[in-house]
Amino acid sequence: QSVHQQYGGVVPELASRAHMQNIAWVTHQALRQASIGIGDVDAIAFTLGPGLMGALLVGVSFAKGMALAAGVPLVAVNHLQGHVLAHFLDEKNETLPHPPFPFLCLLVSGGHSQILRVDAPLRHTILGGTLDDAAGEAFDKCAKVMGLPYPGGAAIDKLAQSGSPRRFEFAKPQVAHLDYSFSGLKTSFLYFLQDQVRADPDFIPKNLNDLCASLQRTIIEVLLHKLCLASRQTGIRAIAAAGGVSANSGLRTALAALGREQGWRVFLPPLRYTTDNAAMIAIAGFYNLLEGNTCGLDAVPLARM
Ligand code: KG4
Ligand code: ZN
Repeated sequence: QSVHQQYGGVVPELASRAHMQNIAWVTHQALRQASIGIGDVDAIAFTLGPGLMGALLVGVSFAKGMALAAGVPLVAVNHLQGHVLAHFLDEKNETLPHPPFPFLCLLVSGGHSQILRVDAPLRHTILGGTLDDAAGEAFDKCAKVMGLPYPGGAAIDKLAQSGSPRRFEFAKPQVAHLDYSFSGLKTSFLYFLQDQVRADPDFIPKNLNDLCASLQRTIIEVLLHKLCLASRQTGIRAIAAAGGVSANSGLRTALAALGREQGWRVFLPPLRYTTDNAAMIAIAGFYNLLEGNTCGLDAVPLARM
């Protein structure tokens, strides 16, 4: 949805319209690529939430129509559960590594930063979460301050690759338990830039790579510090990452290195299953269908869950 780039963020109404325009065509393409017809489909899974209400309404309504037309059950999926269960997707001719139960999952997206204990496909316990902004939000907001295009996380990741991660220090949040906080980091980043730009108006373009690398390193250190604590507290050494921010190359490298140091088994989803995608909703729908978790035509989407 390139429509959002010119506004520097997702505009809810434009997102709903884009969903409306594209959903039939995308579904048609998916069936074609899978070389199946609607008669081969056992159930229709859709995202119940959390997410943007307008976009959710388009998906729910379309799913209801398809389920009715095909005469198959309807399965409501929690978007976050979808991110976690993306670890159980396989390719047509390839089995991907699946984490063993129980495992810990660092779920980091634009709306959430959580550490989950996963005991079974549908048994997830939240051990910690963010008290304010999510990690992806910190990436996106700091990117905006630097004048980078939306979505900012991917832009920062790219620029950070040729920057020095220790060039700048930003204050890290001090939060109890396994919780996170990213709003303070965003504010201190903004104030730091304002001070520097006052002295040198070209400070941002001159130091862009180092700014991105230092900010990214700080966010990664915050995320991994609590993940270490969670592993120590639970004794669980199978560790997975999920959600849009798990596409971050710095996070992936740092988590793999930490895993070797700590003796963890680390699971990183293929990049195409990190940011929001339909495959993860399908696999979550599959596990829900196995448990008989179907829903009726009166299902209503939830912006928050
Ligand atoms: O899971 P997701 O696609 O949507 C939500 O559920 O929010 O995550 C989107 C978030 C955005 O904040 C985006 O900036 C971030 O994931 N993201 C990244 C990268 N790719 C996407 N953050 C850091 N590095 C990346 N490479
Ligand atoms: Zn998501």
